[in-house]
Amino acid sequence: MTKTIFLIGFMGVGKSSLGKKLANKLKVPFLDTDDLLEQKFDVSIAEYFSKYGESAFRNAEKQLLQEYDFGKAVVATGGGLPCFYENMKIMNDKGITIFLNRPAKELKQRLIHAKKQRPLIKELSDSELLLFIEEKLNERLPFYLKSQITLNRDSQTIDQIISCLSEID
Ligand code: S3P
Repeated sequence: MTKTIFLIGFMGVGKSSLGKKLANKLKVPFLDTDDLLEQKFDVSIAEYFSKYGESAFRNAEKQLLQEYDFGKAVVATGGGLPCFYENMKIMNDKGITIFLNRPAKELKQRLIHAKKQRPLIKELSDSELLLFIEEKLNERLPFYLKSQITLNRDSQTIDQIISCLSEID
C-alpha cells in the first residue's frame, strides 16, 4: 500500500475500530484527525467546541487536512470533516477514501452510550438522537458517497477490504 487510507463516516459507525485492524494488518500507523487536533491544540474536542465554536473547529480540520503529512497510514476522520470545504476532494487526491455506512437506527444504538464526549449530540435525549442522526446523515450522505469505496456495515472481511484497496492503489 503506497497511499493514505481515509476512513469516512458518521459518528459511531466504527471508523476507529476498523481503522486499527486495517492499520495493524497493513503494518502502517493508525491516525485519527480528532486525536491530532487534540494534540495540536492541547484541548479535548468537546472543550474546543465550547471555547471556539463549530466553525473554528471546521477550519482547524481543513487546515490539518491541507498541511499534515499523513504518509502511508490509515486515518479515521471526524464525522463532519468530509462535509466542509473541499475536504472530500483533498482526501480523494491525497489517498484512498473508504465510506463506512450503517443505518441510522444502528448508529443510534452505538451512540446512545457514547454521547458525552461528542459535542453535537451530548445534550440530546435518546429519542431526539435518532431524529438528529437521520437528518444529519441525509445531509451528509452526498459528501460521504464521493468516497472511492463504500462498505455497508460489517459485510466485508479485512482481507476483502485490503484486496479491494490493492486494486485502487
Ligand atoms: C463530529 C464527529 C466527531 C468529532 C466532532 C464532530 C461530527 O468525530 O470530530 O465531535 O460533526 O460528526 P467522530 O466521528 O470520530 O465521533
